[in-house]
Amino acid sequence: MATAQVQLQRGLKGVYIDTSEASFIDGEIGKLLYRGYNIHDLAENCTFEEVVYLLLYGKLPTRKQLAELDKTLKENRSLPKGALDVIRVVQQAHPMDVLRTAVSALSAFDPEAADLSREATIRKGIRLTAQAPTIVAAHDRIRKGLKPVAPNPNLGHAANFLYMLQGTEPDPEDARTLDVDFVLHAEHGVNASAFAARVAASTNADLHCAVAAGVATLKGPWHGGAAEAVMKMVREVADPERARAYAENLLSRGDRVMGFGHRVYKAEDPRARHLRERSRTMGEKKGHPEWFRILQRFENDIMAPYRAKGIFVNVDFYAGSIYYLLGVPDDLFVPIFAMGRVPGWTVQVVEQFSNNILLRPLLQYIGPMDVPFVPIDRRTG
Ligand code: ACO
Repeated sequence: MATAQVQLQRGLKGVYIDTSEASFIDGEIGKLLYRGYNIHDLAENCTFEEVVYLLLYGKLPTRKQLAELDKTLKENRSLPKGALDVIRVVQQAHPMDVLRTAVSALSAFDPEAADLSREATIRKGIRLTAQAPTIVAAHDRIRKGLKPVAPNPNLGHAANFLYMLQGTEPDPEDARTLDVDFVLHAEHGVNASAFAARVAASTNADLHCAVAAGVATLKGPWHGGAAEAVMKMVREVADPERARAYAENLLSRGDRVMGFGHRVYKAEDPRARHLRERSRTMGEKKGHPEWFRILQRFENDIMAPYRAKGIFVNVDFYAGSIYYLLGVPDDLFVPIFAMGRVPGWTVQVVEQFSNNILLRPLLQYIGPMDVPFVPIDRRTG
């Protein structure tokens, strides 16, 4: 009934939609667990490949299990020619639009595209995890008039992405930083993009549809697009002394400082710690400590009063500076987030399928009721 009193939960704030065994977030104290393991232990000790295994199979791999997964990932890095053709056709689009389109296109070449079983969905999730970096790197080279670089089976997931993007083997420490970044982005409950993926899966649409929905939803600057917006802001500021005036101008217009705030965390996002430290060390190593100094000015000075409102840095705040220092073009920042999140979307879809229910909330109608119909030739204005 249109006029009935309903309890609105705008933005689904605080609403639990299901149970999950994938990750646990305590936003009040800034705690994140994947499958029960603390994100700090995983970021400090694990590769992304280990975390992929952990998320998809529920436990940390043995050396043998990890070697098998690594082999499968490497075997699936290359793209079918048809998918590369699609990338060429849409090369002028934003890399997230290209990634979304290529993920859709890959369903045409995946022999298990329509298979909704748990086993097939996990296999497809592994294939998409392997293929996503190749899509992003190949597209970047194609749009620059360069030939895509074939994947290098001697390199791990993160190092191989930098290799395919830049054509040279990366410094191992740079590759490890990107590896940690992938670990930190791998899974985060039913965030906006995972929710979109779950909504698609809730109709019994397959994993490629769900991941395409996830990529589409991650693109916006209130979600995955924040890292790019932070680095744009930092470059415009250029000097720590100009940061306050810049931020005051922004905030006085009612705009937000990108990289701050989170729907769930009302304390510091635990993922930010690792990227903060790597932004500092990488800036020093590469002779560009100024970016870190500007970021610190925002965190410790300008935005410090916002902590009382529960607004702290989020995972994206320091990520942009790292990608920039790695020589990654700005518009690839959010695709990098997407590459890390493919296993998270996959596990969310596997869970949705395991006890599926159509995700279909309600809207409170507030428009006019029972309006008399007017035939087209008697309508005015
Ligand atoms: N800068 C300034 N003020 C902020 C910020 C910010 N970054 N974030 C929230 N606020 C303020 C809001 O203006 C609002 O103020 P009000 O109560 O006076 O109106 C209050 O904090 C609460 O904000 P909401 O929008 O209600 O919080 P919500 O949970 O809906 O938003 C969001 C979370 C979208 C992430 C928001 O904090 C934001 O836009 N941040 C900037 C974008 C960003 O960094 N996104 C990445 C998030 S992390 C990720 O997706 C991986």
